[in-house]
Amino acid sequence: MHETADFRSDTVTRPTPEMRRAMAEAVVGDDVLGDDPTVARLEELTAALFGKEAGLFVPSGTMGNAVCLGAQAAPGEELLAEEWCHSLNFEAGGPAGLWGILTRPLRSDRGTLDPDLVARWIREGSLHTPRTALLAVECTHNFHGGAVVPLENLRELFALTRERGIALHLDGARLWNAAVATGTPLAEYGAVCDSLSVCLSKGLGAPVGSVVLGSAGLVGRAGFLRKRLGGGMRQSGVLAAAGIVALETMRDRLGEDHENARRLARGLAELPGVEVDLERVETNILFARFPGRSAAELAARLAGHGVLTLDTDREVCRFVTHHDVDAEDVDRAVAVLGDILRT
Ligand SMILES: Cc1ncc(COP(=O)(O)O)c(C=O)c1O
Repeated sequence: MHETADFRSDTVTRPTPEMRRAMAEAVVGDDVLGDDPTVARLEELTAALFGKEAGLFVPSGTMGNAVCLGAQAAPGEELLAEEWCHSLNFEAGGPAGLWGILTRPLRSDRGTLDPDLVARWIREGSLHTPRTALLAVECTHNFHGGAVVPLENLRELFALTRERGIALHLDGARLWNAAVATGTPLAEYGAVCDSLSVCLSKGLGAPVGSVVLGSAGLVGRAGFLRKRLGGGMRQSGVLAAAGIVALETMRDRLGEDHENARRLARGLAELPGVEVDLERVETNILFARFPGRSAAELAARLAGHGVLTLDTDREVCRFVTHHDVDAEDVDRAVAVLGDILRT
């Protein structure tokens, strides 16, 4: 049990002692000059895991998505994306603000897009219409409660985008969780997208960083855009070293987070005045609804008892499980919330 049970996000995880050791001992160089062997190793290792030609270490998932989108669509071209995806909603308007990309949000079934709908929206471009340049998909899907987009759906979408001559970008910030939840080898995900961004700083617990993956050409363009955004880092092997430990030691334990999320969901479902759909808890994220109550007020009262959550809507809180919360924290959260709801 921890002093504070922090369910706000898996981004709150702190580096493990092994990561801190690796950071202290990392062999480094100037990565902007191509001299940092630890960054190069992280990029190669990650690319190999997903069967992609090349990788690029970037400071954040937001920058990972930004450089992938900017590398594959020109100003005035169109991006089709799931309506609640992170890129459209929580990246400070990046596609439009940075690259002048037109965005078209599409409805989905918890992140899973209907290929027929996508096919209808892809536009070749004409005197009047923009050309659709790419499709973006998010897996697992954060704001659909950590939902796993089925591999088969990704395969269909990739076949469609290939046929129609547009690119597919996969926001795989938590693709590690999808792989563990479904037993899918990472390379199978690498085979169904042109570009991919994976985060080291969420469930895997590294302090900083994401890796962009794709062909050598795409990663080269992404590297140019990273520099434009000021994301060229110098002795970043210090950070990459933690990322390597994250890749090597933290992937296999994600199942524990999924089990804790189910434990939390079962506990919450027993409480009066809480709606939570157990069937929908597939990975490490769950949304709970508190009909008729203020989620902000509940979150503030929980915080007063050392349990942190995020109110994401008027009656809804999001809970995320990760390396730094355990089963006892889960039980404590349920007990504290139960006391609050009964008063
Ligand atoms: C699905 C998804 N993509 C991208 C990001 C952005 O990552 P970062 O916070 O490292 O910029 C997040 C962050 O939570 C996310 O949930």
